[in-house]
Amino acid sequence: NLGTITIPVIVHVLYNNATENISDQQIASQIAVLNDDFSATNNDINQVPSLFSANVGDVNIQFTLDRVIRKSTTRTSFGTNDAIKFDAQGGSDVVTPSTHLNMWVGDIGGGILGYAQFPGGNAATDGVVVGTAFFGTTGTATAPFDGGRTMTHEVGHWLNLRHIWGDGRCKRDDFVADTPSSDSPNYGCPSFPTTKCRTTDMTMNYMDYVDDRCMYMFTNGQSERMRALFAAGGARESILP
Ligand code: ARG
Ligand code: ZN
Ligand code: CA
Repeated sequence: NLGTITIPVIVHVLYNNATENISDQQIASQIAVLNDDFSATNNDINQVPSLFSANVGDVNIQFTLDRVIRKSTTRTSFGTNDAIKFDAQGGSDVVTPSTHLNMWVGDIGGGILGYAQFPGGNAATDGVVVGTAFFGTTGTATAPFDGGRTMTHEVGHWLNLRHIWGDGRCKRDDFVADTPSSDSPNYGCPSFPTTKCRTTDMTMNYMDYVDDRCMYMFTNGQSERMRALFAAGGARESILP
């Protein structure tokens, strides 16, 4: 067991106007949410229904802000083709991705909240992207995605988690044993129980698509899947000091 894993973070802020040049305080609010959610110390963890309480996973990962890179850009939106990750495309080049989690904050456009790269991909694009309107809990953060949970979800992907419904029909797996099977995402704030695939959906899992205030847990299985990346030979082992 590796104990508490600490991940140093580089935040790239891409701004086209003064509002998009978010405050240090807003960045700190995002790091704080991650640290709560990845240690199961989020203040809404007590909302987990008793049906799932034994499944709650303490991932035991903490995030430290290493550096903030602020860059003015002429682009008003970046889309999801990774342009935000390259100086030459109006974005900002990745910094030491083998040892740091890179986060890009900017206008993605198209109603996209965020996107992430799974482990094992191209180092030049390794990291997570979250829209300026969905980052942190203050400043430009906008309801119902102002709880910092888009980043929790994207870092889940960056640490190898799939969507909880496996992006397919009931038998399509998310490769986690203790998440119930489902056949589609949930949105908004679903009432409990929500039943699909003849079982109760874990709609409150960070890897579903519900509103920020309605997602508040990872499972033990998800925690194991994420932490396995840091074991010897794992795809994120190089992050460790
Ligand atoms: N749609 C995005 C993705 O699949 C993120 C969804 C995050 N949801 C939220 N409630 N913040 O990566
Ligand atoms: Zn996702
Ligand atoms: Ca599962």
